Amino acid sequence: MQSEIRKKLLDAFTNAGEIFLSGQHLAELIGCSRTAVWKHIEELRKEGFELEAVRNKGYRIVKTPERITADEIRLGLATNFIGRNIHYEESVESTQKIAHRLSNEDVPEGSVIIAEEQLSGKGRMNRAWHSPKYSGIWMSLILRPNIPLTNAPQLTLLTAVAIVQAMEEETGLQPVIKWPNDILLNGKKVTGILTELQAEADRIHSIIIGIGINVNQKKEDFPSELQEKASSLFIESGKLISRAGLIRSIFKHFEKLYLLYLEQGFFPIKLLWEGYAVSIGKILKARTLTNVIEGKALGITDEGVLKLEDRTGVVHHIYSADIEV
Ligand code: BTN
Repeated sequence: MQSEIRKKLLDAFTNAGEIFLSGQHLAELIGCSRTAVWKHIEELRKEGFELEAVRNKGYRIVKTPERITADEIRLGLATNFIGRNIHYEESVESTQKIAHRLSNEDVPEGSVIIAEEQLSGKGRMNRAWHSPKYSGIWMSLILRPNIPLTNAPQLTLLTAVAIVQAMEEETGLQPVIKWPNDILLNGKKVTGILTELQAEADRIHSIIIGIGINVNQKKEDFPSELQEKASSLFIESGKLISRAGLIRSIFKHFEKLYLLYLEQGFFPIKLLWEGYAVSIGKILKARTLTNVIEGKALGITDEGVLKLEDRTGVVHHIYSADIEV
């Protein structure tokens, strides 16, 4: 109930933009007392929001907090279900772990778990994911699509497209995608995506998409072994980026693409993905868990699987690998 009021309050401020909203008007809009409105405004202040209050006019938000709060993400959020239910934590082992637990508790589709820091962030192929405090986006998104198990990797590619679109919108940078899910700027990795499934027999219970984005780290914030391979949006643009703004934009692009995907299938997503992909047409080395295959990347299949043609003309289908261009 409390959080419902908070959501409505933030929606009202979102819609009002620069316009002041009176306590009375807010109370009527939300369906609560003026005292309740006042109490929630005080809570927002404690979270780091700055609200301007002018006699006979009311309130408006003039500054949002440095750290990401669920409320700040909700302020201006233009989605119907992606990111509408936010589970926010200051410090966790891994947001994936929490997402797995919550998805068993039947939270709604589109719920997200966001943390300021991860103590044992998980990367692909059992690697660790460096997730320092307040500087990146570490989040897991819970989906429950009614699709065959084999199509699940398509959602990783869809996620990469949504993130690239959001980054273009929020930073003006032009990132590219390296199959299947690395997002690069100047050849360095700024984002990784880890897709995990909860399924029984051939039915998907939920898909958990873990997203790690290096946003405001400086070069020295990366461990030395990563400094040549990884980068952040701050390093590449020279500007501090609003993490909440980027998250909102990712949710918006993701929801649009996801609805398109559910309606029309993977084909339109595949076209968009190919437009951002760097590796197609190039000679790649794919390191799978058991093998190394070198060949020309022909493209991806309708399932999102990479097609690699080796020197003898054999076309290999790569489901999961590390890629060297
Ligand atoms: C990769 O190896 O490229 C994938 C990295 C995925 C990292 C994200 S951060 C949020 C979520 N929680 C985790 O523990 N991992 C994913």
